[in-house]
Amino acid sequence: MKIIVTGTSRGIGKRAAERYIAEGHFVYGIDKNDGVIESENYKHFKADIRYKDRLPDITDAEVLFNNAGLQNSEDDIENNLKGTINVTEKYIRSNAKLKSVLFNASSSAVTGQEFPVYSASKAGLIGYMKNTAIRLAPRGVTVNAISLGGVYTPLNDVVVNDKECFQKIMDVTPLKKWMTADEVADWVLFLTLKNRSMSGQNLLIDNGEYDLNYRFVWKD
Ligand SMILES: NC(=O)c1ccc[n+]([C@@H]2O[C@H](COP(=O)([O-])OP(=O)(O)OC[C@H]3O[C@@H](n4cnc5c(N)ncnc54)[C@H](O)[C@@H]3O)[C@@H](O)[C@H]2O)c1
Repeated sequence: MKIIVTGTSRGIGKRAAERYIAEGHFVYGIDKNDGVIESENYKHFKADIRYKDRLPDITDAEVLFNNAGLQNSEDDIENNLKGTINVTEKYIRSNAKLKSVLFNASSSAVTGQEFPVYSASKAGLIGYMKNTAIRLAPRGVTVNAISLGGVYTPLNDVVVNDKECFQKIMDVTPLKKWMTADEVADWVLFLTLKNRSMSGQNLLIDNGEYDLNYRFVWKD
């Protein structure tokens, strides 16, 4: 299968792309930074998703994983929400064989914890995901979102590398763990490759943050 993944130059997007490739798929990676994946089954496009006109033309993809995002930048709405809408509107039109779309939202979209504009950008994504699911259902395309709690990626180095701060985070995380990008990739591959029957859903995969009495802690 041909698969579009945004944000493949590090973190969750990179790991998901590597796992798709390991399973024999071909990945079109889009990132504003240079590509880092070396494979004949990977094609990198250096593009910023905020600018729709600069997105590459792709017409033979069956999966779209909308992953690229920033956390607590000045531009979270333009980047995480509008940029993802740019990507989605372009590729749902130009890819007739599309089978599934997955959005990487955030547990903060549901809890309201974390950073104000970030939470808003991710909550907006969930509303947009539902709208897209309704529009694409007649084509048989499944459209869902994952809302992750903490994942070990460079995005979070600032708190993971601060022992005291990270202990405070663990103290209020019910399952006393974060996820690896590899664990996230398991969910991403299942939801985009295997799932054919669930659509319009936002899955909270959050180490119990939401339902098990979580409070958000970050570095001062
Ligand atoms: N790490 C976590 O704990 C966590 C938790 C919940 C949700 N998320 C979400 O998962 C996604 C990936 O997070 P990560 O931790 O892997 O982050 P990361 O910073 O490690 O990687 C994000 C990648 O996206 C790219 N990117 C960002 N904005 C872009 C743009 N406008 N155009 C093109 N590329 C862009 C970056 O260059 C980078 O390579 C994000 O949307 C993030 O909000 C992460």
